[in-house]
Amino acid sequence: MGKEGYKLNINSNEVNITAASENGLFYGIQTLLQMIPTNQSDYKTFEIPSVEIIDKPAFSWRGIMLDVSRHYQPKEYIKQFIDILAFHKINTFHWHLTDGIGWRIEIDQYPLLTEKGAFRKVKENKNPWQEFELAASKTSPDTYGGFYTKDDIKEIIEYASSRYITIIPEIEMPGHSEAATFCYPQYICKGAKPGSGIYCAGNDETFIFLQNILDEVIELFPSQYIHIGGDEVGKEQWANCPKCGERKKKEKLADEHELQSYFIKRMEKYISSKGKKLIGWDEILEGGLAENATVMSWTGQEGGIKAANSGHDVIMSPIDYCYLDHYQGYNNNEPQGWGGYNGLKRVYTFNPIPEAVMPENRKYILGGQANLWTENISKTEHLEYMLMPRLAALSEAVWNNEKDWNRFKNNLDVQFDRYNKMGYNYSNSSNTPMIKSCNIDSINQSLSIELYTELDLYPIYYTLDGSEPTMSSNLYDGSINITNTSDLKAAAFRKNKQVGYILELPNLLNKATLGTVSYITSFNEKYSGGGATALIDNKFAIKRGDDKNWQGFEKENAEFIIDLGQEQEIHEFNANFFQHIGSTSVMLPSKVSIYTSLNGNEYTLVKDDCIAYNPFPDAFIENINLTFDKHKARFVKVIAVNTQTLPSDHPRKGANAWVFIDEVSIN
Ligand code: ACM
Ligand code: ZN
Repeated sequence: MGKEGYKLNINSNEVNITAASENGLFYGIQTLLQMIPTNQSDYKTFEIPSVEIIDKPAFSWRGIMLDVSRHYQPKEYIKQFIDILAFHKINTFHWHLTDGIGWRIEIDQYPLLTEKGAFRKVKENKNPWQEFELAASKTSPDTYGGFYTKDDIKEIIEYASSRYITIIPEIEMPGHSEAATFCYPQYICKGAKPGSGIYCAGNDETFIFLQNILDEVIELFPSQYIHIGGDEVGKEQWANCPKCGERKKKEKLADEHELQSYFIKRMEKYISSKGKKLIGWDEILEGGLAENATVMSWTGQEGGIKAANSGHDVIMSPIDYCYLDHYQGYNNNEPQGWGGYNGLKRVYTFNPIPEAVMPENRKYILGGQANLWTENISKTEHLEYMLMPRLAALSEAVWNNEKDWNRFKNNLDVQFDRYNKMGYNYSNSSNTPMIKSCNIDSINQSLSIELYTELDLYPIYYTLDGSEPTMSSNLYDGSINITNTSDLKAAAFRKNKQVGYILELPNLLNKATLGTVSYITSFNEKYSGGGATALIDNKFAIKRGDDKNWQGFEKENAEFIIDLGQEQEIHEFNANFFQHIGSTSVMLPSKVSIYTSLNGNEYTLVKDDCIAYNPFPDAFIENINLTFDKHKARFVKVIAVNTQTLPSDHPRKGANAWVFIDEVSIN
C-alpha cells in the first residue's frame, strides 16, 4: 500500500483502518470523516456505510502553493488553510514566502528584510503587485504588511506535520526580489535601481547573503526540498553590469541565460552541501539545468517533459490546469482574477504525466501541484473561493488513477454540504448558468437560447422581465424561445437555494438584433468579436480582455452603421465598452455619438456623450445608455471616439489605445 495507502473496513461491529504508516492511517480517517452524513442536526448517533476500501495515492507530491507575499495571511489563518489541504489529502504545502512586494520570513542576520521589507506603501490607482515602495511607518494608514517570526513558522510546521503535510519554503532568487533589494541594495548590479528586484550574479557577496538566508531557512524547515524560485528573471540589468560581465568572462558563459544557470547551479551546490534538494520553476532549465535540481513546470508542460526525459525529478504545475488565480467561471460577478480561464472541469482533467514523457522516465514525475497567487486576493473568503471546489478536482488528479467526471460531480454535491458544514466559502461558479448557444431566427423574428452549467446537477430557473429568478419562475427545460425584447435572468437552485451567480442578458431581441452592421472604420481582425454580426448577436462579452466576443479597434474610432431593416420608432441606444488599464491597452472611448437617418444618406446627430477618463486599474465594463426623443429612423450611425494613445499614468503609456465594444442594442 506504500507509505500513504490505507485499508478501511467498516462492518456492523467495527471500523478498522490498516496502513503501513501513520500517514496512511491519517488518510483512512479522512475517508471515514467523508462518510459521516451531512444532513444531521445531531451527531450523537449516525449511520455510516459498510465498506471495504483499499486506496493509495497515485503521486507522492500532492501540492498546493500559497503566495503570502502579495497578500499576507496571519498565522492562525495559515493553520486553517492547512486544515483545508489535509481534508483534501494534500501532503505538500509550498509556501511562497518572498516576492517583489513583500518579504514574510524573519531572518536574524538580515533584520531589515522584515522590519522594512514586510511593509509596503499601498498606492492609490496601483495594483498591489506594482512598484514596491517601503512604508513610511508600520502604523501609517497606507501601510500593508506582516511577517512570520521564527516561532510562528515552527508552530506552523508542527501544525502541518501533525496533519502529514510537509512545508516547502520558497525564497525567490535571482528575480522577484524587489522588497529584499530595497532593504539590501548592495546586492544588486551597479547602476540598477535599489528596488530593481534582481540580485547581481557577478558579486560574490550576493551569494553569501543568499546562503546566509538559506542557512536560517534550512535550520527552520525540516523538508528535504528548498524552493529557490528562479522564474521570470529580467536579464537587462545583468547585461549592463561590469561584475556580471566579468563573471561571464571568467566562467565562459555565452549569455545571460547561462549566467542564470550559473547562479542556480551555484545555489544548488550550496543547498546540496547542506543535505537538501533544490527546486526551481522551469526557467532554471534556461542555459542548462543544475545537476540535482528538481523542476517545477509552470509555464506549460514542456519544461517538465524535458527535465524528466533528462532524468531530473519534476513536479507538474502547468499554468493552464493548475493556476487557481485564474477565473473559474464566465460571469461578470466573478472576482478580479489573473490570467485566463481555468474552470473546475479543466483542473479535473489535469494529468501530471504528459504523453511525451517516456515510459521509463515517468518515475521522475513526483506529482502535481496547484498554485494560488494572491495579487488580487487579500481576504480569506476570497482565498477559499478560489481554492474550493477546484482543490477537490486537483486532489483527485494527483490521488486517483481512475478519474470519472460523472462520479466526481455527483460526489461534489455531498462535498458542497461538507463545505457548508465547515463554513468554507467555496465557489459555485460551476453552478452558474452560461450560454451554450444563441440563435437568431430572422424569419420568425425570434431568438432561441440554450443554457448550461458546468456541473449540470441542479435545475435552472429564469425570468424574461428583468426580475430576480426564484423557484417560482420558469423552469429551464432545454431551450428558451424569445419573441419580444426581453431581459433574461437565470440561476441554478440547489436544495431550494440559489447557488452561483445570476446570468443576466439584457435587451435580447431588440431592434438592432434583426438588422445588419456595416463598418466605416475596420475592427482589428485579431479582435473581430466574431465578425460583422458580433455587435448584434446577443452574445455578451464579459469583463475580461480575453473574451472573444469583444470587437476591438486599434487607435481608430469604432464607427459603424446599423441598418434596422425597416423604418422603426426608436428612442434609445445601448452598448458595452471595456477598459482594463492593469493589463491591457483597452480604454473607454472619450465620446460616443449617435446619428440617425431615414434614407442612409443624410444623418442627424441625435445624441452624444463625453466619457471622462477613469484611471481605475482593474477590468470593468461601462454600459453606455443614450436616450433621445422618440423618432422614426432606419439607419443608426455610431461613432465611439478612440483616445488613440495610452495616457501618461498607464503602464504602457504612449502605446496605441484600443476600443473594445460588444452588444449594441437599439430600442
Ligand atoms: C510563476 O507563476 N511565475 C511561477
Ligand atoms: Zn551584476
